[in-house]
Amino acid sequence: MTTVQATPSVTVGGRRVECAPDQSLLDACLRAGVWMPNSCNQGTCGTCKLRVLEGEVDHRGSPSDTLPEEERQAGMALACQASPRGDVVVSSPGADGGAVRSTHALRDLVATVLSVEDVARDTRRLLLGLEEPLAFSAGQYVELAVPGSGARRQYSLANTPQEDEVLELHVRRVPAGIASDAWAFGSVQVGDRVELTGPLGDFHLPDEADDQGEPMVCIAGGTGLAPILGIVRTALRRRPDREIVLYHGVRGPDDLYDVDRLAELAADHPGLRFVPVLSHEPVPPGSVCRAGFPTDTFVEDVASARGWSGWLCGPPPMVEAGVKAFKRRRMAPRQIHREKFTPADALGSEPPEG
Ligand code: FES
Repeated sequence: MTTVQATPSVTVGGRRVECAPDQSLLDACLRAGVWMPNSCNQGTCGTCKLRVLEGEVDHRGSPSDTLPEEERQAGMALACQASPRGDVVVSSPGADGGAVRSTHALRDLVATVLSVEDVARDTRRLLLGLEEPLAFSAGQYVELAVPGSGARRQYSLANTPQEDEVLELHVRRVPAGIASDAWAFGSVQVGDRVELTGPLGDFHLPDEADDQGEPMVCIAGGTGLAPILGIVRTALRRRPDREIVLYHGVRGPDDLYDVDRLAELAADHPGLRFVPVLSHEPVPPGSVCRAGFPTDTFVEDVASARGWSGWLCGPPPMVEAGVKAFKRRRMAPRQIHREKFTPADALGSEPPEG
């Protein structure tokens, strides 16, 4: 007689979700539409840290930098890495309490490459057609199985939630990178089929009912523009007269892209101001670009950001400088939203990566 083993479960905030022994707690909850804080999904940011109240987990690939031994001994775990050893009950900040927050359910999808476009120096736009629409919030990302490599890479969506059948990804080339150099700038062909998982990440515009319509400042570095485009266009769709300042920081003029797209958006929405900023190469004569770093440009331009929300996506030094700049201009910390590029092919390659 064979014994059928029951699938382990994870219980959070009174919601019980089945979780296979080789599945992460975060994956199980998000697939069931139960929100848990998450960002990198790679064990590096610590956003998904939770406390195990009952039962045991296998910490699997949890890095000791993010989850030191003393924290493991104290019952902490990384939801994106840990799997259950039997039924577990956990406490996750924000996911606890009587009302557990719902989220767009995490799903596995298949997409077809519809177009590959060079938009700037070492920067491509990929459009992927989905077989069925994907529900997500503006600013979230998907994780793509890089064809022919066995590797997975994360790319932010430049889409608004209404654009749910063709995903727009921005990819920056990283020399010798498995995902960018070998695939997106190498073997990729229109018509290729790719597998992806999504949506993921907490860097997103709030639901419309929770959106206060406050003025926004967005600072994007390189292909960090992708999620910012989704966020800005969604915010303007909700409130066409919303006040938004968008800084796009790049090294030189050849790295800028979607300038015309943003100029058109600004022409239709007088509350939107778009400011391209060049950090390493001279500003061409007659250009509207500014020189320097976008976070410094914001400080020069804005005397007070009290009551504003701030949105940052780019390399970690830019994001850290942005947080300081926002606080210096009196933005409330709870209004500061950030997404750092994480090392994949290399630092600053694909957001959330982008
Ligand atoms: S460490 Fe789990 S989401 Fe970043």
